[in-house]
Amino acid sequence: MGERSTFLLNGEEVVREGDPMARLLDVLREQRRLTGTKEGCGEGECGSCTVLLDGEVVCSCLVPIVQVDGREVRTVEGLAGDEAHAALSSLLVREGGVQCGACTPGVVVTLRALLERDPRPTRARVREALAGNLCRCTGYEGILRAVAALVGRKERP
Ligand code: FES
Ligand code: FES
Repeated sequence: MGERSTFLLNGEEVVREGDPMARLLDVLREQRRLTGTKEGCGEGECGSCTVLLDGEVVCSCLVPIVQVDGREVRTVEGLAGDEAHAALSSLLVREGGVQCGACTPGVVVTLRALLERDPRPTRARVREALAGNLCRCTGYEGILRAVAALVGRKERP
């Protein structure tokens, strides 16, 4: 037993009891089996653990579960399955925006949050949004090309 937290997770109500300081990342991966959310640094630096909390991008490694009580969490699994996800993921693959893939779920969550707010972001805006998502493989160019293609913007060479 422990403290009770109730929250919406990808549209479903979750009631959890246990350590109120457990990290949201661990609750997602170990208790909810939502392993799309990755652990990289564990210190809020890499963005691999990115999820949406009430629509805002957060690092789930830094969020104690007590802070999620009464709120809504969306993970990459909750964002997958719609047309927007299919379009973005196929362009990320086509443009080489996915290599090792460790960063990719976090990048996808960040990009979806951006595109929900700004359906035609500039290159600078995309770069700015991705500042908290480290990708050591693609150099970001593939990711930037994929977003440019998605929004019908000509990317400079
Ligand atoms: S694992 Fe959370 S920011 Fe790196
Ligand atoms: S694809 Fe490898 S870190 Fe991003």
